Amino acid sequence: MSMTALARTALPVEPDRLDATAFAADVVAGLTAMPKRLPPKYFYDSAGSELFERITTLPEYYPTRCELGILREHADDIADLAPTGSALIEFGSGASTKTRIVLRAAKNLATYVPVDISAEFLRQQADALKSEFPGIAMLPVAADFGRPFELPVTVRSAPRIGFFPGSTIGNLEPHEAAAFLRQAARILGRGARLVVGVDLIKDADVLHNAYNDSQGVTAQFNKNLLVRINRELGARFNLEAFEHHAFFNRERNRIEMHLASLKRQRVAVCGERIEFKVGETIHTENSYKYSVESFSCLARGAGWTPVSTWTDRNDYFSVHVLSLNDEPPQPSAP
Ligand code: TRP
Repeated sequence: MSMTALARTALPVEPDRLDATAFAADVVAGLTAMPKRLPPKYFYDSAGSELFERITTLPEYYPTRCELGILREHADDIADLAPTGSALIEFGSGASTKTRIVLRAAKNLATYVPVDISAEFLRQQADALKSEFPGIAMLPVAADFGRPFELPVTVRSAPRIGFFPGSTIGNLEPHEAAAFLRQAARILGRGARLVVGVDLIKDADVLHNAYNDSQGVTAQFNKNLLVRINRELGARFNLEAFEHHAFFNRERNRIEMHLASLKRQRVAVCGERIEFKVGETIHTENSYKYSVESFSCLARGAGWTPVSTWTDRNDYFSVHVLSLNDEPPQPSAP
């Protein structure tokens, strides 16, 4: 299939609206699977997004602080990445401080293209940023950054820098991470750069504490998935009967998040009876950790050339700068 056949022009529609039936279908499919699972993208309703913002400020949750520090420290390098007239394309744009640091550092940036699934959120973000950065054109694109979309025409011939912070790439399976990188290569095109935040493999206790904070915010964030299913799909999960479980899986270099049933129970969800054994879990998320080398290998395999890697002084977190020197890899035949 050709690139054009695959690509859809991203329109500022409301993908949020189509979600009710898709949500129900995904929840039923996940809870009737063995082992049980739920798609992490449903964490982020407005309560979930707020809880996540709180996670990023917790003392135990080092990734956000480390990444912010790295970006601040490399402001000059970021300026060098963005020559006059360039465009910054952020995949899954956040609310965030990170974007502002990069927009401030990249002094010659002409355009900012935030890509996010939530059209409403995008509009608010773009409005706020417009007044803060009057010299930068804001061209939001409402799209699922995991799917093909097209860049606004005006930035296709400008120098392009992709931005994918927060170790969100670690929430993908490694083969999906590679597919994302290939996809980003096709969207950004030859000559582009990609700045990716990647959490590093480290002491298991440090990792464990980051996902088991003492205030229980991460637990609340995880359980919010059940709150949302109760509210939006009329289920009756008893929140007291489930517990947040997060642990480092050493074989696979990933933090796993689960919701564990504290007792034998049955919950009705969309007309399906879901049975839980004592201790049975719903797997809600993975957060893969990489070494600088293992991530560089993954990036090379997806057609990118690593040009620099920045880390904090503890080597807790890394920011990779990748370059697309060759033609982007073509999508494999369906
Ligand atoms: N990608 C980040 C991480 O894996 C942020 C994140 C996603 C997160 N889901 C989370 C953090 C759940 C805490 C709990 O660390």
